[in-house]
Amino acid sequence: MLESRFLAGRRVLVTAGASGIGLEITRAFVEAGALAMVCDADSAGLARLEQALPGVHGCLADVSDEAQVAHLFAEADRSLGGLDILVNNAGIAGPTGAVETLALADWERTLSVNLTGQFLCARLAVPRLRQGRCPAIINMSSAAGHLGMPGRAAYSASKWAVIGLTKSLALELGHEGIRVNAILPGAVDGPRIQAVIAAKAQALGQPVQEVARSYTRQAALGRMATARDIAHMAVFAASDLAAHVTGQALAVDGLTQALS
Ligand SMILES: NC(=O)c1ccc[n+]([C@@H]2O[C@H](COP(=O)([O-])OP(=O)(O)OC[C@H]3O[C@@H](n4cnc5c(N)ncnc54)[C@H](O)[C@@H]3O)[C@@H](O)[C@H]2O)c1
Repeated sequence: MLESRFLAGRRVLVTAGASGIGLEITRAFVEAGALAMVCDADSAGLARLEQALPGVHGCLADVSDEAQVAHLFAEADRSLGGLDILVNNAGIAGPTGAVETLALADWERTLSVNLTGQFLCARLAVPRLRQGRCPAIINMSSAAGHLGMPGRAAYSASKWAVIGLTKSLALELGHEGIRVNAILPGAVDGPRIQAVIAAKAQALGQPVQEVARSYTRQAALGRMATARDIAHMAVFAASDLAAHVTGQALAVDGLTQALS
């Protein structure tokens, strides 16, 4: 359990907060005393959120759609009455396969959700964060945002781009006291990574168990991250404990130096 004083009264918007890492981040922020709101593109996920985290307002929005993001921030104004923290968590795995097999539409969709979605949300968040308390943006990158990832070029390229966005915004907004950091999770255990492992096993013609083992072995600590590991870093990066931390690529990957 986190101490409720870490983020007491801070207003946070978490994108893709209905499940996976975003849900765990939202849960941790609430435990740490924040007033949270989430968006997600999945209405069934948002309905489940009401059971999981009663009192957390959910808004149906695809972060890659400019009009839906505008609606989301209007909802956030109503629900939170301002904004102190944006967690740009939404991201999709993108296509798996050799570069010559990738479809342009899959490449563009990956960049659109993983990169443009963060831009669209940051663009509307910044004027609100200027009025906020100890404002911060957290952009979700990946270990694939500082390492190459064979067979996942679209995903890796999008996550490297997130680092460029993060460092640029940190430089642009630092004089106003707005901090901007990226989190780089290693493989996080859960349904998403199991789907990625299955797709990779199929693409390589290898047994699923063999590919799964390579994902746990790739970290020096010998296990995948948990969503909670990532949530703890998000709480730290958003809190006053990180008051002099900005423009950083914060890895939570058990020391991963090459990706499967
Ligand atoms: N799971 C991992 O191993 C891992 C590792 C490194 C980085 N990440 C990053 O962490 C973030 C969260 O990953 P996850 O594993 O929880 O994802 P996930 O695939 O479990 O999806 C979580 C949520 O994202 C929502 N979502 C998908 N597209 C959306 C969109 N366009 N707009 C709004 N919501 C959308 C889904 O509906 C779902 O509820 C992503 O940015 C991902 O790239 C994940």
